[in-house]
Amino acid sequence: MNVKIRKAIVSDASAIAAININTWKIAYKGIIPQSHLDSLSINDKIPRWEKAINDLTENKKDLYVAEISIFNGKEIIGFSMGGPSHFEDYKIDGDLHAIYILPKYWKQGIGTLLFNSVIKFFISMNYKTMIIWALKENSAGDFYLKMGGIPKFNKTLTYGGKELDALGFFWENIQTQFKL
Ligand SMILES: CC(C)(COP(=O)(O)OP(=O)(O)OC[C@H]1O[C@@H](n2cnc3c(N)ncnc32)[C@H](O)[C@@H]1OP(=O)(O)O)[C@@H](O)C(=O)NCCC(=O)NCCS
Repeated sequence: MNVKIRKAIVSDASAIAAININTWKIAYKGIIPQSHLDSLSINDKIPRWEKAINDLTENKKDLYVAEISIFNGKEIIGFSMGGPSHFEDYKIDGDLHAIYILPKYWKQGIGTLLFNSVIKFFISMNYKTMIIWALKENSAGDFYLKMGGIPKFNKTLTYGGKELDALGFFWENIQTQFKL
């Protein structure tokens, strides 16, 4: 499979919203209350993603999509987004805000490509430290361990009225940890 990683443009917003919601519904089933997952709507999220893409430079963020060729064109199958960390307890440069891939493409190396794109962006911003938050029950934590993250911070997130433990995976120096 030939996967191309490129920066997102505004017309990608609907594909990104669909991947975001559809992947949430599968990855967080049994973790986040089902009523909350059922209430998520792709159409509600499209304008938010359009605004997020328009505001990337202003917010010092970047957003990447993974795209494959299909018989009648191209299909976006995953995305990642990074920007400054706003964690109040500890000064950290970058936060990988989101990384989502359609389930049928998991464990084929696409997560690594999308992760590395954000790392390259952070290195270009001269960032050293990085954090990623993941729900403790989400197996994505194992992906972050593979990428060299150290579970270092804890916080609680509330979704659909349920309090969930989140782990902050930390990278001390991406400039030396990654040679991309
Ligand atoms: C987490 C996610 C981005 C990983 O992407 P991916 O394309 O599957 O990852 P890769 O194929 O590049 O995997 C790299 C390594 O991590 C491992 N890995 C990836 N996901 C894993 C998981 N869920 N559990 C255990 N190991 C995992 C792979 O086996 C691989 O290990 P290897 O190098 O020994 O073969 C993807 O599974 C996903 O979109 N998950 C659902 C959404 C989500 O939870 N996002 C994170 C929100 S915090």
